[in-house]
Amino acid sequence: MDLSGVAQWVGSRRAGHSLPQHLYLSPDAFDFDLAAIFGTSWLLAGFTAEVKQPGDYLSFMVGRWPVIVVRGRDGVLRAFHNSCRHRGSILCKPGAGHAPRLTCPYHRWSYGLDGRLLAAGRMPDDFDKTDYGLKPVHLETIAGAIFVSLAQVPPDISILRRDLTPLLEPHNLERAKVAHKSVLVEYANWKLVVENGRECYHCASGHPELARTFPVGATQYFDLEAAAARLFTERMEAIGLPAGPVGEDWWQAVRFALNDGNVAMTTSGQFAVKKLMVEAGGGDAGSLRWAVEPNNFCHSTSDYTFAFNAMPVSPGETHVVSTWLVHEDAVEGVDYDIDELTHLWTQTNLQDKVFAEDNQVGVWSPGYTPGPYSPTAESLTLRFVDWYCARASEYLARVPV
Ligand code: FES
Ligand SMILES: [Fe+2]
Repeated sequence: MDLSGVAQWVGSRRAGHSLPQHLYLSPDAFDFDLAAIFGTSWLLAGFTAEVKQPGDYLSFMVGRWPVIVVRGRDGVLRAFHNSCRHRGSILCKPGAGHAPRLTCPYHRWSYGLDGRLLAAGRMPDDFDKTDYGLKPVHLETIAGAIFVSLAQVPPDISILRRDLTPLLEPHNLERAKVAHKSVLVEYANWKLVVENGRECYHCASGHPELARTFPVGATQYFDLEAAAARLFTERMEAIGLPAGPVGEDWWQAVRFALNDGNVAMTTSGQFAVKKLMVEAGGGDAGSLRWAVEPNNFCHSTSDYTFAFNAMPVSPGETHVVSTWLVHEDAVEGVDYDIDELTHLWTQTNLQDKVFAEDNQVGVWSPGYTPGPYSPTAESLTLRFVDWYCARASEYLARVPV
């Protein structure tokens, strides 16, 4: 990877402005992002609700890197590089599944759910299986959310654990199930997809469904300074739902009030799921927005949690993985209707796909120069871009260019 161009582009970034053109376009910048950002961060991999039983697994790609999360016979969740120790084939194709063992489809080497190599046919007598277990990936769970890190030494996750847990735990994600999961292909660089997802400057005109319940005009709602926000926070704390805000430069969480008269992020503003995940206050609990750099945000309301992950595929392609979680006892067709549950975020994602793709096309223009973010309406986008540049600079300082 030639880092000299990337170093120059990162170094030339103007404060408060969008990124230099080539950071959105170039294959070198994409390779750099995988190594410097996705290879060094904690990434939301999914939820414990997706891998409840021993043998349940989640297989997914982080850029070009295949990863598997699997629950062992001992009930412990582990993550591994999804790459056979024989000649490197993936063991499981991307997606969710269940297997008593992880058996490579190529030459049938077979691994236990704890990653140990159990069987390898026709290998010599002195072949030592203990040398060929699957290579581990760091994994942590926090209140039902699974995080993985491909870094040799991952960032400290203790403050995320300490400060997110009291906000997220009341949403009972450990007792959730996946009601729906979708993958939306967007022909835009992952950073443009994330930048778009971090601001609501475009929401009033761009997302009529979302704008009904979501306070699209809020300025820096994360800072919760307004009197109404303080009242909301006090009301939440009185019913045992801490509101924050909490965070570090790479994650933020806050519970905020939905527009008056709404209790859920649905097209009607009313619950899409009868069986609630949060009973406190009759479920009138706003939305807990939690977001983890580089590529994730979630909204947890009383009736469901929505998770958004922008997965980088190539310089100009990103897969948006969306997950809707509901109470594990909620029955489809009785307690909720899938179309009603998913409509708002599906529409919002489709609208955002157009914004991100149009953004990508325009960034290719020789007339593109980085433009200024609104300090209020795009404060979280600016935080993301500042965080990106800081992590990029740290990486460049460590790795000789
Ligand atoms: S590559 Fe997996 S058994 Fe050969
Ligand atoms: Fe949007």
